[in-house]
Amino acid sequence: MLIKFLLSRQNALEPHMSKDTLEYHWGKHHRAYVENLNKQIVGTELDGMSLEDVIIVSYNKGNMLPPFNNAAQAWNHEFFWESMKPGGGGKPSGELLELIERDFGSFDRFLEEFKSAAATQFGSGWAWLAYKANRLNVDNAVNPFPSEKDKKLVVVKSPNAVNPLVWDYSPLLTIDVWEHAYFLDFENRRPNYISVFMDKLVSWEVVSKRLEIAKARATKREMEEERRKKEEEEENSEDEAVEVYVDGDESESE
Ligand SMILES: [Fe+2]
Repeated sequence: MLIKFLLSRQNALEPHMSKDTLEYHWGKHHRAYVENLNKQIVGTELDGMSLEDVIIVSYNKGNMLPPFNNAAQAWNHEFFWESMKPGGGGKPSGELLELIERDFGSFDRFLEEFKSAAATQFGSGWAWLAYKANRLNVDNAVNPFPSEKDKKLVVVKSPNAVNPLVWDYSPLLTIDVWEHAYFLDFENRRPNYISVFMDKLVSWEVVSKRLEIAKARATKREMEEERRKKEEEEENSEDEAVEVYVDGDESESE
């Protein structure tokens, strides 16, 4: 995993991402988000929650609480580092490639869409490939009528620290398009940075593993939902049976 490389040698991604960028981006920016978050949540109800839960709770359906930005940035950066590897890039394979071709038409069309999302995110933010299971395109809204068609890969972009966890999507890949991510290596040429990231750095193995986890999570949720519906139906039919019995009892006594 890249984080281990970063701990031992910060030139692991050269020449595509320089040691200077990693020292500055990982060593200063990412570190600051983590340290500030720890200070912000100590002694609060968020202390002790998983980082994912801190993000969702502090997103507060779009009315963000103060720790949100540091929590989401801490998570986003770790996810970003793990999305890369020395000698990455190229093309995915297996089910990931099949789903990309199904949902975007071809791998090239996906690349175009991902690069465009990353290049056109106005100001600071992120671009993502995510697995969307059974939710609507509404913040934190539960889809009452999920279908197979809802399960698909999507490309989305997000401003500042926001990430797709807050829409209940499963992120699979991300690129940081804050200027601090590329300025030392590419100055203001964001599209060049995005191309190098996709061509030389992405770890498709990691993205494939994340897809497996996302699909397993969606299946588990569906099973839980079915069990809940069944229990509800059973409870309702028991209630009806009691009513029939009570009605019958009353008519006999009249
Ligand atoms: Fe960053």
